[in-house]
Amino acid sequence: MLGLFGTGGRRRSANAEAGAGQLPQRPAIVLAVAADKQAPDWVALFEGCRLSDGRSVNVYQTAWHKMVASAEPKAARQQLAVHLQDVHGPAVQPDLVLVRNEVYTPNEDFRNLLYAFWMGGAAGVNSLHSIYCFCEKAVVQAELFRLNRELGDAVFPVVPQCYFASYKEMMYTQTYPCVVKIGSAHAGMGKMIIRDHHDMVDFRSVLAMTNGKYCTAEPFIEGQYDLRIQKIGHHYRVFKRISVSGDWKTNTGSSHVELLDLTPRYKRWADEAGRLFGGLDILTVDAIHDSATGEEYILEVNGTSSGLAPDQATEDNMHIRDLVLQRLEESLLGVKTGGGQEGETGEGGSSGAGGGGAGSGE
Ligand SMILES: Nc1ncnc2c1ncn2[C@@H]1O[C@H](COP(=O)(O)OP(=O)(O)O)[C@@H](O)[C@H]1O
Ligand SMILES: [Mg+2]
Repeated sequence: MLGLFGTGGRRRSANAEAGAGQLPQRPAIVLAVAADKQAPDWVALFEGCRLSDGRSVNVYQTAWHKMVASAEPKAARQQLAVHLQDVHGPAVQPDLVLVRNEVYTPNEDFRNLLYAFWMGGAAGVNSLHSIYCFCEKAVVQAELFRLNRELGDAVFPVVPQCYFASYKEMMYTQTYPCVVKIGSAHAGMGKMIIRDHHDMVDFRSVLAMTNGKYCTAEPFIEGQYDLRIQKIGHHYRVFKRISVSGDWKTNTGSSHVELLDLTPRYKRWADEAGRLFGGLDILTVDAIHDSATGEEYILEVNGTSSGLAPDQATEDNMHIRDLVLQRLEESLLGVKTGGGQEGETGEGGSSGAGGGGAGSGE
C-alpha cells in the first residue's frame, strides 16, 4: 500500500528546510503502529505538520510484526533503534510511538517491542506505562473497582465481578446466567455465557486446559443497549449501541449506533478513567443498560487501541494527530500543555448504523 510506510519520497529533508546559515533541525520522528483495515494513512495525516520551533514531523507507519527493536538508554547517539521491514536504510529512532493496535492478544504478544520503546526513552500515545498496564485486563478491572470503592456505586457503578486466579479456586457467588471472561482478550474473545452451575463445572474443566489463565465471572445483564463513552484528549463522544444481529456481544455482531449527548455523569466516568495509570490520552468506557433495574453499569475501559466509529473516524483521527503533536511539544520542547486529562468538549449529533458498533473490537 503506497504511503503506508514512510518512504524517502514522503519524508521531508531536514537539511532542505533549514534556511541559509541556519543549523538544520532534526525532524521529530513518530512511529505509528496501526495496521488494521480501518487504520488511516498516518503519513498523509501529518503532512505539513510542524512543532512550535518549526521542525517538521516524519511519520513511519507499520505493524507490530514488521519491526525489530533494541535500546541502549545511555548511548551517546542512538538510544532506540527500530528496524522496519519495509523501510530500507538505517534504523529509525522514534521520539514518540502512537500505538493503535493491541500489544497482547490471545495469538500474539508484542510486549517486548513495547519494552524496547520504553527502555529507549520514546514517548507514547497513550503513555507506554499505561499501555503496559492495559496488557492485563485484570489490572484494568482492579483499577475500576478501586474507583468504585472510592466514588461509590452512585457515581461510578461497575458490574460486580468475581476473579479467579486459576481454575482451582472457582467459587462463583453471584447470579446465573453469568458471563465468564478468560484472561486478557479483546473483541469478544474468550467470553461466554454460563447458564447454571452445571455449565460452570464444565467451563472450569475447560479453563484447566488453558495453561494457567485467570478468569472473571459476573452476572449476565439483559439490557436494551450498550454505551460507549469515548474520550480523545478533550473530545468526548457518547455512543449507544443496539444489537441488530441478536448477538449478546454487541461488539461482535452488527449493531445500530446512535450518538447521545454527553451528560455530566458520562463525562465523569470518562474523566475518572482518564486519570488511570498516570493519565490516558485515548480511552473508551463501555457500559451496559440493565432492563431489570433501568440502571447503567460500567463493564470495562479500553485504552489506546480503542476502535473509532466509521462515521466519526476522520475527525477523531485528527484529534489523535493533535494529541501526538501536543505530546511531542512536551517531550521534545518541554512545553507544558496540560495534556488532555480534563476537558469540556462534547460532540453529540447524528445517528447511523454501523457494523460491529462504535469502533470495532473491544
Ligand atoms: N455481564 C455482561 N452482561 C451482558 N453482556 C455482557 C456482559 N459482559 C460483556 N457483555 C457483552 O459482551 C461484549 C464484550 O465484553 P467486554 O467485557 O466489553 O470485553 P471485550 O474486551 O471482548 O470487548 C460487551 O460489549 C457486551 O455487549
Ligand atoms: Mg468491550
